Amino acid sequence: MTTTADQSLWLQDTPTTSRQAPLAGQHACDVAVIGGGIAGLTTGLLLLRHGFDVALLEAGTVGHGVSGNNTAKVTALQSTMYSTITRTHGADAAKAYAAAATAGVELLSTLADPTSCDFRRAPAATFAYTQNERDAVRAEADAATAAGLPVHWTDELDLPFPTYGAVRLAGQILVHPAKYVRGLAQAFLAEGGRLYEGSRVTSVSTAAPYQVDTAHGSVTAEHVVVATHYPLLDRGLFFARLDAERSYCIAARLRSGTPPEELAISAGSPSWSFSRHGHHVIVGGQSHPAGDHGVDFARYTALSDFAQQHFDIAEITHRWSAQDPKAYDGLPMVGSYLPGASHLWVSTGFAKWGLAMGTIAGAILADRIAGIDNPHAETFSPHRISLRGVPTLLQQNAKVAKDLVGDRLASPDAHDPDDVPIDDARVLPDGTGKKGVYRDRTGALHAVSLRCTHLGCLLRFNGAERSWDCPCHGSRFDVDGAVLEGPAVRPLPTRKP
Ligand code: FES
Repeated sequence: MTTTADQSLWLQDTPTTSRQAPLAGQHACDVAVIGGGIAGLTTGLLLLRHGFDVALLEAGTVGHGVSGNNTAKVTALQSTMYSTITRTHGADAAKAYAAAATAGVELLSTLADPTSCDFRRAPAATFAYTQNERDAVRAEADAATAAGLPVHWTDELDLPFPTYGAVRLAGQILVHPAKYVRGLAQAFLAEGGRLYEGSRVTSVSTAAPYQVDTAHGSVTAEHVVVATHYPLLDRGLFFARLDAERSYCIAARLRSGTPPEELAISAGSPSWSFSRHGHHVIVGGQSHPAGDHGVDFARYTALSDFAQQHFDIAEITHRWSAQDPKAYDGLPMVGSYLPGASHLWVSTGFAKWGLAMGTIAGAILADRIAGIDNPHAETFSPHRISLRGVPTLLQQNAKVAKDLVGDRLASPDAHDPDDVPIDDARVLPDGTGKKGVYRDRTGALHAVSLRCTHLGCLLRFNGAERSWDCPCHGSRFDVDGAVLEGPAVRPLPTRKP
């Protein structure tokens, strides 16, 4: 095996040219969209088509967040989503979700330029990897059918190992997600949008017209859309209603055979997810709550071992991971940021299905800002009350409270920087607090405060990604303290090792 790129297959394939300049100075527009991923760019593009003047601010580079770090599946059949929604919210909600997801898939097909984003139709499937998973897949087939999706049951899948039945939905989509997002950005620019990359938003004022600030500039806007994956403003208390989960992918080049035709995912836990690109099979899974204890490279090893066990692999070529917020009741949150607010908007909680759901979220928000009724808006109102979701909500927040207090009381795991192994990290005392010290492959030490700059939880080292991750709401920082993922917007203070 040759060296594997520590990067998404989708991002390696995509030139990082046409980077737009960061925001500088004072600007004004009708709508400021924060976040240059699927949801933000779709919202921005559709708003331009409704006649708005739109500025879009992206903290890094367009498509380099979760939009370029996924399995590339655009599908309305989403693991066991319909049986779960039917249980939690009832059959009507499952029907409404199916209609929205289908609309998201089809809207993406109209926004994509098929020649430039490797667009193709493919079936999706949820399958039973073990006999024990068969009942869950049966339940999903029944719930998806009742929700109106034209699914069918099959015992034959294009996978190189036995399965115990599957529910299958034809006509879903596989795209090169990074190329697709870049295509959206190009269309956005061509149609008159203003796009600023390298422009992390640090604050948004509290009333319209809003002032949106970055390090070197600001934009004044009548409407603001927060499409930052995990909402960056605390005022809506989204952090108390969302849970972040990390998951992992590897891409493997096949020596013989072809990658599976179906965009398949198993129904159990751990789940195994399959996608494809050219002669590469993509295997995903190994999910865990963000900021979990003891996360290390074994996540990738498990995926590589699985791929090698079932496919004739010439080379594992890429590996990547991503993080997805999921609402306490499992449905996306798309609409006004605060109850009654009609100029500040949010889209989040796509729970790993953001290619389809982030796309329909863009249409919902663009319509709402334009004053047009959207048939999917009510289902995803961020202010719905889901009584069946309350136990999960309480559990989530009890866990946050435990993490907040527990890690502070825990002893440091080393006292001397000399005890930090190569390419690993330890928690050391830092006055009355704690610092995280990482030793890179050259032997150099990198030390940061371990207090998350969001709400102060203590960070934990993620050995698979060499980052400091927050167990409370999923913020992530690199070993020198730079923000990798929000809701935090401020870097960690550095420390002397
Ligand atoms: Fe909220 Fe760290 S992300 S405290």
